Amino acid sequence: MQDDDQTPEYRFDTLAIRSGVERTPFGEHTEPIFLTSSFVHDSAAHAAAKFAGEADGYIYSRFGNPTLRTFERRLAALEGADECRATASGMSAIMAVLVSLTRTGDHVVCAQGVFGTTQQLFALFERYDIETSYVPLSDPEAWAAAIRPNTRMLFVETPSNPSTEVADLRALSEIARRHGIPLVVDNCFCTPALQRPLALGADIVVHSATKYLDGQGRVLGGAVLGGNQYMNEKLQPVLRYCGPALSAFNAWMLAKGLETLSIRMQRHSENALAVARWLQAQPSVEKVRYPWLESHPQHALARAQQDAGGAVLAFEMAGADDAERRANAWRVVDGCRLLSITANLGDVKSTITHPASTTHGRMSPEARATAGIGEGMLRVAVGLEDPADICADLARGLG
Ligand SMILES: Cc1ncc(COP(=O)(O)O)c(C=O)c1O
Repeated sequence: MQDDDQTPEYRFDTLAIRSGVERTPFGEHTEPIFLTSSFVHDSAAHAAAKFAGEADGYIYSRFGNPTLRTFERRLAALEGADECRATASGMSAIMAVLVSLTRTGDHVVCAQGVFGTTQQLFALFERYDIETSYVPLSDPEAWAAAIRPNTRMLFVETPSNPSTEVADLRALSEIARRHGIPLVVDNCFCTPALQRPLALGADIVVHSATKYLDGQGRVLGGAVLGGNQYMNEKLQPVLRYCGPALSAFNAWMLAKGLETLSIRMQRHSENALAVARWLQAQPSVEKVRYPWLESHPQHALARAQQDAGGAVLAFEMAGADDAERRANAWRVVDGCRLLSITANLGDVKSTITHPASTTHGRMSPEARATAGIGEGMLRVAVGLEDPADICADLARGLG
């Protein structure tokens, strides 16, 4: 195979299109899909050498596959990571990291308000006596105070979902380094097109590739990225023995999705800012949360660590009490004809959801209140339609 691997001096947009390609002797221009569960060996001795790790070559798609390798090497180039491993979903990526870093009796510190299923996953691991403490995302002092002698991982998602709170990744990595604990960042909302956590000091990045890496709502996928030692010694055995492998077809979709990541994220961000500014001017809207708005509490920090604001914004409908705020929010959802009423995000199609009754509905009301998720809050993942049409659609239910 001819290997068109990335040359370090290539810039982001070139790496997104050209890195990770392994051309076969057929000379195909587009990356091929290797839909095969296993790979053949030249002889018994060759098989033995590959199994013993003494010869290179693919064995079985649970451990490695050339199409997955294309996606992994391309994403590693974009995140600036030594290594990347693809997984079947974002949740399996987070689970693999948790399993790789902890054992019975260990402790995790996590940002309040991370994706609801991530919190459910951490709760599931309480059965193995692995406890999680939740801390305010934007308060580094609280992170430092929550660390115990048995803490094995700091986990953060920034900007947060749905409140778009921004964590100071440099400050958190400094705390992590001081205590010798890895900082794990879920970079789902920004993607490496807008934010590169490893360059800001983080140790491990996880992705729900289902979202903006694919970008068109087609396939599930996930990824873990980090340094060689962690990836080869700690993560790879978990993936090999637990088997949350990505399908080659999905890996191909994701590798092709990366080719347009940068222009998509720029346009998502421009559209989201236009919609956020318009929402700010609507009398029935109490508050708009979007990191690129000057009114956002961590606007300066977002500008320092992100290249643009991303696709996701949240806004709050006014109301005399919780019941009225919920009714007003639901009226906006029900008035939409263009925006899709779905909890997913990361699509060219704009989506709208009421977090308190959907994605974050399983949290206790107290936990929701702490994470700033009220009954009047709506989350919009702004797509690539014309922003004027998105605003007109929202206007119908605003009152
Ligand atoms: C921030 C974040 N992380 C992880 C996940 C889980 O990803 P997946 O659905 O691919 O398992 C999601 C899904 O919505 C998410 O929004």
